[in-house]
Amino acid sequence: MDIIKVAFFDTKQYDKLSFEKFGKDINIHFKFFETKLNEDTVDLATGFDVVCTFVNDTVNKKVIDCMYKRGIKVLALRCAGFNNVDIKYAQGRIHVLRVPAYSPYAVAEHAMALLLTSVRRIHKAYIRSKDFNFSLVGLTGFDLHGKTVGIVGTGKIGRVFADICSGFGMNILAYDKYPDKKLESNNFFKYVELEDVFTESDIISLHCPLTEDTYHLIDKTAIGKCKKGVIIINTSRGALLDSDALLEGIKSRQVGAACLDVYEEESDLFFEDNSGHILDDDILARLISMPNVIVTSHQAFLTEEALENIAETTINNITEFFNTGKCVNEIQ
Ligand code: NAI
Repeated sequence: MDIIKVAFFDTKQYDKLSFEKFGKDINIHFKFFETKLNEDTVDLATGFDVVCTFVNDTVNKKVIDCMYKRGIKVLALRCAGFNNVDIKYAQGRIHVLRVPAYSPYAVAEHAMALLLTSVRRIHKAYIRSKDFNFSLVGLTGFDLHGKTVGIVGTGKIGRVFADICSGFGMNILAYDKYPDKKLESNNFFKYVELEDVFTESDIISLHCPLTEDTYHLIDKTAIGKCKKGVIIINTSRGALLDSDALLEGIKSRQVGAACLDVYEEESDLFFEDNSGHILDDDILARLISMPNVIVTSHQAFLTEEALENIAETTINNITEFFNTGKCVNEIQ
């Protein structure tokens, strides 16, 4: 087999380390580009066999046309979600491979880390004790034990998160468009309507994909139906949650706290150091300024185990495709 040339976009140091480790004995040559893939940068992929992208690269009709004209056969996503790819348009033009699971534990554990940080005010306490301020005033939290958590999406990550919550003695309600009744029969959690997740949960955690169906799944109306003081956790995709409505909910005290690893306008900000810049996004700036909003920059996946699984599966996907013309992880 000839050397497979892969143009790797939105590269970070941790990507290089894991892909070089798993790719070193294989017939694949990676060219690592720091820039994201979009209409302006797609020319960089000229002469390559494969384009490898992550969650904030743009793979729209124009980008797909450019790749197709340049004879690029494969788009290898090094992630599970593919809401940033025009999948319908890609059909018949380019094969889209993905990493369906790399570590559901990484994401579910991060969701719980954000929740615990928020309810026990760890983010406040950490800063105070650094300044030798050992006052407890304003740090009162509440027990998770006995609280009701509503989980939207009971796939790989949602199940692990439910498992973690059950270890905390929480009541678990779940909504999934395609419920897996086996899970319910194990007494693990109870499936309810989405409406009931809104009205009965103290905490809501989103673990479904972003689709046309789920865009702004939590909007102003949904927030209005929630219990006063609801905590919203989003480690899935930013646009599941209407950020304007969230900000209004926080300001009106209807939303008690938000734990966000994703944000709907994150693509030009997250994964980059913007500390020396003026933030143009007023909604994000205002959300970050709130004492009861915790934002991490799409880092829920970032564990050693997940990075190794991403590199291994992406490389296996590419070699399987070039050896057999097919790949089990192709999006059909
Ligand atoms: P999965 O495919 O195993 O599970 C998704 C679940 O959502 C399925 O059970 C599916 O039936 C359900 N679902 C689909 N449409 C729905 C709808 N309209 N309403 C309610 N449920 C619906 O996916 P997995 O691995 O659990 O990942 C979930 C999401 O987490 C991904 O789509 C991705 O957006 C996000 N993610 C975030 C990461 C991060 O670093 N923050 C890393 C990896 C994934």
